Amino acid sequence: MDTATVLVPMGLGHLRQVLDLGHQVFDTSTKPYTSWSLTSVAEHLDSPDNACWVALDSDRVVGFVLGSMEFELRDDWGYLEWIAVAPDMQGHGIARRLVDACSAALFARGALRIVADVENNNTASATLMTRSGFHPAATVTLFVRPNPEEPQADAGSALPPVAPGTKRDLIRRGRLAGEGRGGR
Ligand SMILES: CC(C)(COP(=O)(O)OP(=O)(O)OC[C@H]1O[C@@H](n2cnc3c(N)ncnc32)[C@H](O)[C@@H]1OP(=O)(O)O)[C@@H](O)C(=O)NCCC(=O)NCCS
Repeated sequence: MDTATVLVPMGLGHLRQVLDLGHQVFDTSTKPYTSWSLTSVAEHLDSPDNACWVALDSDRVVGFVLGSMEFELRDDWGYLEWIAVAPDMQGHGIARRLVDACSAALFARGALRIVADVENNNTASATLMTRSGFHPAATVTLFVRPNPEEPQADAGSALPPVAPGTKRDLIRRGRLAGEGRGGR
């Protein structure tokens, strides 16, 4: 285990490094309904019941976790939405510590369950979650039917990425499940 790295609650001063690290490691094309952006981070920070931590090596953010009590319409479930560790710091147990800190905070806030959605091919993330006490509860396959009028369309082609902040905007306007929640 890496003992030089300390965990602290995420603050405004960590925003830039968290955003950059996320851009470095997340492949949001694997879950085309998600997007990584300043909005994703800022909305977590803004939420009064957030459970967000960074792992610091001196002043450098080498990992982070973003959690909240905002999983769709379930008020009693926590959501561990984003987790990342810098490539040169992976494999030292930092993510395990981040998951534990986030989970403890969410359970303390009354979460009966904590949810993390893991893409099928993300072995590192699936192993992390399994070792941290999560177990598979449901598997959802995103079936996609392309528009035949679209020249590029075929069943295997990648979906265009979601514009930054789109999902959150829709939630705010009440257009997506998860809408109309107080406290945001
Ligand atoms: C997933 C991720 C956060 C793991 O970070 P990490 O600090 O290397 O993880 P840890 O060292 O705490 O390891 C946790 C467990 O997962 C296992 N693990 C980590 N990487 C693994 C890999 N590539 N393949 C298989 N198992 C792996 C470890 O062996 C460990 O299990 P153990 O406790 O039984 O030894 C990191 O790989 C990452 O940032 N990936 C890119 C971002 C991402 O996909 N995030 C998840 C979606 S939001």
